[in-house]
Amino acid sequence: MKTFFASSSSPSWITLALCLAGCGSARPVATNRTATPPASQPSLLAPQHAATYRRFAVATDHPEASSAGAEILAAGGTAADAAAAAMLALGVASPASSGLGGGGFALYYRASDRSVTFLDFRESAPAAMSAGLIAPMVMGPPVTDGGAPPTSRAMGLTVGVPGEPRGIEELLRRFGTIGLARVVAPAVRLAEQGFTPSEHLAGLSQRFVGALRHDPLGRTWVPDGADGIRANVTLRNPALAQTLRSFGANGAGIFYEGPLADDIVRTAGRIGGVLTADDLRRYRVTERAPLVGNRYGHRWVTAPPESAGGYTMMASLALLERWLPGGGAAPAEADVLHAMAESWRGPFLDRARYFGDPDFVSVPVDALLDPARIATRAALFDPARARPSRDYDLPLPDRAAGPPAPVPPGTGTSHVCVVDAEGNVASVTTTINIPFGAGVSVGGFWLNDELDDFTIPPAPGNPAAQLPSSALNQAAPNRRPVSTMTPTIVFQGDDPVLVIGGSGGTRIVTSVEQAAWRAIVLRAPVAEAVAHPRIHQAAQPEGLSAEAATAEAVVAALRARGHQTDSLRYGAVVQAIRIARGADGVSLEAASDPRKGGRPAGR
Ligand code: GLY
Repeated sequence: MKTFFASSSSPSWITLALCLAGCGSARPVATNRTATPPASQPSLLAPQHAATYRRFAVATDHPEASSAGAEILAAGGTAADAAAAAMLALGVASPASSGLGGGGFALYYRASDRSVTFLDFRESAPAAMSAGLIAPMVMGPPVTDGGAPPTSRAMGLTVGVPGEPRGIEELLRRFGTIGLARVVAPAVRLAEQGFTPSEHLAGLSQRFVGALRHDPLGRTWVPDGADGIRANVTLRNPALAQTLRSFGANGAGIFYEGPLADDIVRTAGRIGGVLTADDLRRYRVTERAPLVGNRYGHRWVTAPPESAGGYTMMASLALLERWLPGGGAAPAEADVLHAMAESWRGPFLDRARYFGDPDFVSVPVDALLDPARIATRAALFDPARARPSRDYDLPLPDRAAGPPAPVPPGTGTSHVCVVDAEGNVASVTTTINIPFGAGVSVGGFWLNDELDDFTIPPAPGNPAAQLPSSALNQAAPNRRPVSTMTPTIVFQGDDPVLVIGGSGGTRIVTSVEQAAWRAIVLRAPVAEAVAHPRIHQAAQPEGLSAEAATAEAVVAALRARGHQTDSLRYGAVVQAIRIARGADGVSLEAASDPRKGGRPAGR
């Protein structure tokens, strides 16, 4: 087994990229310096996506959202205040990927008492929901894709109770100082004054133009005859500005009772939903114990069930520690990717068999992470050959569970990283599930379609649902569906050293893990760790997807080991901030993923 350095002896191009990311300075990256990775290793590195700061930093996948967070930090807010401001600004400027109609997970480190809190504000199923009701739903490409209006019953049934407003309120109640009215201000300004759509938003608007054309808000963005949002226009959202002002003045209650809540119920019902006023009234944020484990000499704190993302990463890293131990020369890229791909097969099978909402089913995380089980799985690794996923399948002996179920896709998600001047850290992933969620808006925001993250049971006429189905993640009253969202904070000793998370359906966890592994184990600069070409393997199907930027020689080496590779059309999107402490103070090395055009902000 090869070993490699986990020390400062980085290859020179990595050092160069580190300088690109600021070299410990407190200013944004100079734009006239360019990292030059070796020809064999293509990279998306571009200077505008990374910067190093001294006091505070925000990294999101939209420049306006990072600026909103930084504005609140400059005004004296905490990381919680800034994360909330960034989430709200994302809902304005990146409305396909987040917003008040969705939900998410917040992981928060409070420096004063070194506590870590995990808040679950994911969408929940209506009381009238059942697996039978949702069975005819078609998984895969959403019904809003390609021009059809979102009028099918399937789409309405996927609308869960939005958790984002209550989540923001709870985050601020516990950790905020500046007040909700101030927190909403940057988003209100953005919605009123307008913003230039990103390439990412313009591209999604073309794919989902059918939904946009059939929604009153969408129609203001896509004029008759246009095939999507036009480039170089200024998009405004006065309805959202009004909603945000009211939120700032009155709190989250306006989304759960009263005229806006009634409008949410009516709009979900219009497309076949079964959401009621009572479902909204009863919604609560849930605090859960985060998933914690030691890997590669660091303490990783991440999302617990009903996320399967945290488990998948921790189970995979436990294998990688054995297959790619640190210290020594850097391993060949193909060795790294082969080991990573093999490391995800078993954990994804575990997810598909054992995961559900922990308030309703028992998720055996401790048994799944039992050291003996990990050692058994680790011993299966063949450095020279890819194994079929079933070889890594280790059903727990005393656990009744169905065969593995398919894991759904999704891309309407966003991630926010914040470090404030007091050392508080926020890692928040927020989602409306697929782009533009259920394809209908209320009060200037899009309603989620999160409930298609439930396992869809077999149903006649629904080929996608003919696959075996996990009993544990089926739709049921008040349940929250299994997620892949993986907000993470990595500690060395008592100190947080990396905050990271991402968006992109099931690719979230594989992407977050790859970037974190490169930052922590290879000590790659964060900009390089985030930009580096990525792969994805999720047990089912057997094939391995590689981003187009992956070097041809590396793909050939993976094929030679038996991996069936295809091209990954859309990789996930990762944000990260490394926190380094030196004799001259703190350095915050922040990176937004170039794949979505984000930029960090800070001071
Ligand atoms: N909807 C994306 C996720 O929760 O993983």
